[in-house]
Amino acid sequence: EMYNAFYYLSNMFYISRTAFDTPSSPLVYLPRAPASSRSRPTGESMKAYRIADSVYALHADIDSHDLFEGIWPIPHGVSLNSYIVKGEKTALIDLVRDWCEAPKVLAAELAELGIDLAKVDYLILNHMEPDHTGWLGPLKQVTRGFELVATPKALRLAKSFFGLDESFCTLHPVKSGDRIDLGKGKVLRFEEIPHVHWPETMATYEESSRTLFPCDAFGSFGAIREEAPFDDQLSESELAFFEEEAVRYFANIVVAFSGPVKKALEKIDTLDIRILAPGHGIVWRKNPGRIVELYRRLAAWSSAPTEPEITLLWSGTEPSMGPLVKAAIDGARAEGVQIHVHKVPETHISYILSSVLRSSGVILGVPYARDPLPSPLAHALDDLGRKRITGRKFFWFLQGKGLEPEGERLSEALEAEIDRILEKYQMRWEALESAHIPRHTEEFVYQQTRALVMELLAGGAIKGHVQELVGAP
Ligand SMILES: [Fe+2]
Ligand SMILES: [Fe+2]
Repeated sequence: EMYNAFYYLSNMFYISRTAFDTPSSPLVYLPRAPASSRSRPTGESMKAYRIADSVYALHADIDSHDLFEGIWPIPHGVSLNSYIVKGEKTALIDLVRDWCEAPKVLAAELAELGIDLAKVDYLILNHMEPDHTGWLGPLKQVTRGFELVATPKALRLAKSFFGLDESFCTLHPVKSGDRIDLGKGKVLRFEEIPHVHWPETMATYEESSRTLFPCDAFGSFGAIREEAPFDDQLSESELAFFEEEAVRYFANIVVAFSGPVKKALEKIDTLDIRILAPGHGIVWRKNPGRIVELYRRLAAWSSAPTEPEITLLWSGTEPSMGPLVKAAIDGARAEGVQIHVHKVPETHISYILSSVLRSSGVILGVPYARDPLPSPLAHALDDLGRKRITGRKFFWFLQGKGLEPEGERLSEALEAEIDRILEKYQMRWEALESAHIPRHTEEFVYQQTRALVMELLAGGAIKGHVQELVGAP
């Protein structure tokens, strides 16, 4: 009950669209919802879409209160995508998990294309994570004898996860540059992209249509609007929605693997890609470069400098912390930069990761408590370290009214706690010098926020860049 109420409320917030401008709740940043109203995914869409000659997109939209990977909220759903390439032989690329009837949806879409699952010649698995393979177990009841095409590491996982071995199907290990000719001009080529985001991952490229199937790479949260799985069918605000959900997906799932993503991008840059068909989200056929460039930026953002945006994480109660939080918002506004304000633990870490990934600057607003760094803030900082979001500039302020006798001791303890987490994950976060002042007034927070913006601009962040990112066609 509580759980449902939480989701109900969080969805209400999404619909009512409250960024930090909303007067009723100026101190809690909530992520942007798409400007146009999107119908919630119904799970009843069972249609296959033609991408190119003999290449088809299949997708199951997940509309669930389940957390993705058991951790990340998906209030706008997520799609699990599979693809079909048909030559003389038929290849099925990536599978689904048994979740919200996804296998039923996939089977219906295959039937619509006149494809009998038992007659699929090749099952290509780019990545072994359960959202793309979970249905392998039940699939064993339906079919056998196909060739299972994957990297050697993935084949080992298929064996240990699902017991798939030679008694059941032909194991067909592939490495970068290997090709499979399906006949009728359809040729699949494979490119290993390890650690995007497991060690066994690869991407599949169909040569005649120049379609790349990269699975998790270039993916996003967000269910696909019915009848509109392609970028050219979406309005600019809908595209911006998928980009924002791609930022959050990256910040949650992929960011710790930004190094491997950069290597994958180098490989992918050598391919002539006309269509990009990821494992989650829409198919990019009008402008695949748009999502590739976004991912290029995201991979770079993990270690900064990034956008001149600021994320303020604060904890405590509004009466005591409110004026200081407002001073930070006013300071950022005075310098014309965006500030994402998250109260913890109210905001799920999913959104905090996303905001800090795109921000060069971070502010920690700390309430007076027995614990120098209250656990919600410590937890958020720790998660940012685990995700290796490094190289930020920051300052902290401590709500210190009435703490005159022990303010100095408390702020030293607080600083030591913050440093301990920064050191633990080698975060290379750089504190503004004047962060040692024990009693922080509104004027201090206001001026310090402005100083932080100046530091970011001096550090190479470019003002106005973010509008370009979200708005450019
Ligand atoms: Fe994955
Ligand atoms: Fe995935």
